[in-house]
Formats: sequence, structure tokens, C-alpha cells
Amino acid sequence: MKTIVITGASSGIGLETTRLLTRQGINILGVGHNEINCNRAKESILSENPDAKITFFLADLLQQREVTRVAEEITSYLEKTSDGELSALINNAGCVRSWYMTTEEGYEQQFALNHLAGFLLTYLLLPALRKAHGRVIMTGSESHKGISMHWNNIMLSRLYNPLTAYKQSKLCNILFAKGLNDRLVSAGIHAYVVDPGLVNTDIGNKETSGLVNSIWALRKKRGLSPTIPAKTYAFLCDPKTAPDGLYYSHLKVKDFSKQVTRENADRLFELSERLCGVHYEQEVLR
Ligand SMILES: NC(=O)c1ccc[n+]([C@@H]2O[C@H](COP(=O)([O-])OP(=O)(O)OC[C@H]3O[C@@H](n4cnc5c(N)ncnc54)[C@H](OP(=O)(O)O)[C@@H]3O)[C@@H](O)[C@H]2O)c1
Repeated sequence: MKTIVITGASSGIGLETTRLLTRQGINILGVGHNEINCNRAKESILSENPDAKITFFLADLLQQREVTRVAEEITSYLEKTSDGELSALINNAGCVRSWYMTTEEGYEQQFALNHLAGFLLTYLLLPALRKAHGRVIMTGSESHKGISMHWNNIMLSRLYNPLTAYKQSKLCNILFAKGLNDRLVSAGIHAYVVDPGLVNTDIGNKETSGLVNSIWALRKKRGLSPTIPAKTYAFLCDPKTAPDGLYYSHLKVKDFSKQVTRENADRLFELSERLCGVHYEQEVLR
């Protein structure tokens, strides 16, 4: 049976993607940081599909030691249940912040959760992904356009603008996917980015205040149901398809920013390796 890991599976886009994939008989390993929300999500899925294969793992993905711990737990689960194989990893957990806030490592939180957590989790689950010629899917956003990387102030600690930090983290999602493809397509691993569109979720109303909170409360009302983008993840996870694009929305390939270059992808890859203390080459060459 196919097994897929989805981070941020406890609400919004991740929850609806989980619901859709479990209906297709896929074994889903969801990752969330709030036990109550994870239990609620699981009950909601099982109440309409008692046969759904859904297991939640708890981890605060803002903290790298938590990413490492949950990757170990998932790896040992995969070894016991699916010959150590992972068909896809969906790096979807994300956050919005109003102010400059940092992790234990001192990294800005939107950069840390929206990009670095997925970078590190992918590295740690690479052996399982390689076994299944798996796919890695990031939840990106159209907001990555119209911004370039702030290489000299990557955490944006000077004159923090929350929207700039969010957009930069979403540009990182595509640069990371490109960097992965450049290194791993020969090992049978493909990376993609989904632009879900404007979706009616509570992302901008969690741990935010002031302007960010009020603007999102209004903006989300114009958003789509999260069941709509869920279909694009299912399409990209389907082994019967072999999509060769990088950036997808509503089941179709889409243009991305001109900032998505080999040079920027390599630069982000090397920086992320340093910030996470890992080296992909060692994993790729093993
Ligand atoms: N909504 C949109 O219009 C939109 C547009 C473009 C891209 N996106 C992207 O879509 C992704 C999902 O967001 P969403 O809109 O579905 O919002 P959401 O409902 O808030 O989903 C975010 C998920 O991440 C989890 N999460 C938050 N902090 C975490 C942490 N420290 N550790 C582990 N998990 C954590 C949340 O858990 P809880 O359930 O406990 O809060 C939730 O499951 C994000 O990457 C976002 O940037 C959203």
C-alpha cells in the first residue's frame, strides 16, 4: 500500500488533502503540532470513512530537534509497515507572523517553518523516498512572484516586514524544489510545488495580531474551499501520471518567477544545508 507523509495535516489544505488521499486507500502519516487539532482531524476523517488509514505524528516543526525526532519516528514506522518505502512527502505546514519571531536556533519563524523544516525533513526521509522513487511536494504560493531573495539579510531581522518574509519563504519553496530536481531526478525522485490559490483557511489568524490578522480575516472570505487544491496534490501523487513541470495550480502547470534560477537554487541549497547542519551530497551518493 502506498504511504504518504503530509505535514500540517491537522487543518486547512493539509487536512482536505489527507481526506482525499485516504479516500483513495492511501496510508497517510500526518504531522501536526497540536494534539487536539490532530485528534479532531483524525476523528473527522474516520467519521466519514471508517476504513481510512491515518496516523498522526506530533512535532513542532519550527524546532529542528523536533523535525529530526519525528523523522526518526516516521522512518521506524515505515520500516515496520511498508518495507521502509515512502511514496511521497508533502511539505505543507506553514505559518504567517505579524512580528519578527525566532526559533530556538535563532531563525525567523516563517523562513524556518515554511522552508527550512521541509528542507530538513526531506533530507531525513530521503532514504525512504529513494526506495519508492518518491515525490516531494511543497505548498508554495503565487505570492512568490515580485520578490527576490534578501541574501544579505535572509532572516529579514532589520526592518521586518511580515509579508516580505512570507513571500520570500514561498520563493524558497520553488528554489528548493528546483534544487532537489537538479540533484535527485537521476535517483528517481521528483519535486513539485503547488500553488493552492487563495484558500479559505485560518492561517493568517493563528499567532497573529493587528493588521495581519484583520486583513486575513477579510481576505480569506474570498478564498476557495481547501477541497479544490487537494485535487492537485492527488494528481501529483498519482504514480500513473508522470508530470514533468515544476509549479502546478488547479491540475495545470504554471509559470513561475524569473528569480527561480540555477544560481539562486544552488545558493539557497547551500545556505539551507549550513543552517540545518546537513549535507545532501552524502545522502545522494550513498
Ligand atoms: N490559505 C491560502 O490562501 C494559502 C495560499 C497559498 C499558500 N498557502 C500555504 O498552504 C499551506 C497550508 O496552509 P493553510 O492555508 O492550509 O493554513 P492552516 O489551516 O493554518 O494549515 C497550516 C498547517 O500547519 C500546521 N502547523 C502550524 N505550525 C506548525 C508547527 N510549528 N509545527 C507543525 N505544524 C504546524 C497547522 O497546525 P494547526 O492545525 O495546529 O494550526 C496546520 O495543520 C501553508 O504552507 C501556506 O503557506 C496557503
